[in-house]
Amino acid sequence: MRLSAEFREQFVQHEMRTHGRKNGFVTTGQEARLLKWLPIIGLPKGKTLASANLAEDAPVVMEIGFGNGDFLVHLAERHPEWTLVGVEIYLPGVAKAVGRLADAGFIERTRITQLPAQFVLQHQVAEQQLDGVFINHPDPWPKPRHHKRRIVQKDFSQLLVSRVKDGGFIKLASDIPELAVWMRDILDQTPGLTNVAGLGGFIARDEDRVHTKFEQRGINAGRDSQFLHYIKK
Ligand SMILES: C[S@@+](CC[C@H](N)C(=O)[O-])C[C@H]1O[C@@H](n2cnc3c(N)ncnc32)[C@H](O)[C@@H]1O
Repeated sequence: MRLSAEFREQFVQHEMRTHGRKNGFVTTGQEARLLKWLPIIGLPKGKTLASANLAEDAPVVMEIGFGNGDFLVHLAERHPEWTLVGVEIYLPGVAKAVGRLADAGFIERTRITQLPAQFVLQHQVAEQQLDGVFINHPDPWPKPRHHKRRIVQKDFSQLLVSRVKDGGFIKLASDIPELAVWMRDILDQTPGLTNVAGLGGFIARDEDRVHTKFEQRGINAGRDSQFLHYIKK
């Protein structure tokens, strides 16, 4: 990897403890894209969303764990009026997404960070700053002793809700039935949220949704995904 120590220090936060892979192979071309774009649209540790030069009055919608950027590109296409904030700890995923967003001409209305979502929400996003949040197919951590590594936890859910505006949304998807129920049970019990499908319910798949890599992986393995939609009261 050729990213300089200074660049890594500013944009690639290896010292933060996370569960899940952060590093992997980044091509020379991807690296050039990162070096070009992250100084402009990156959200390094010392910067808040409020100081990130966002378009005035544009709804701000975050995707947590965007993987290779499938859904982020889809959102940018479908919602030219939105400012998108992408949060992903896996550097090769960040590199792929930055390249795809740049090629499609969407990069300037996105903000991208490799920092963990917990840090971003706690330190870089203000209360009631987000119009919506998507979390698609978060890591399942199937072993019971690893369940505490799952991103959706009670504390995380409360933090997330505090960052969403009244009337804003949180939408989640999972192809792992046990994880879908885990997320639903936590979010159903989080004060301030209304489950659009009613307590205990899942919504139908939005017809125009793109199949992300992990939704497709589920389909290939014979698993249908489940979808959750909450509104902040
Ligand atoms: C199973 S993948 C799903 C990727 C994509 N959303 C999809 O549907 O194909 C989960 C993603 O969440 C990312 N992730 C895990 N923990 C995270 C965290 N604390 N903050 C941000 N992203 C995280 C992982 O690196 C991984 O890319």
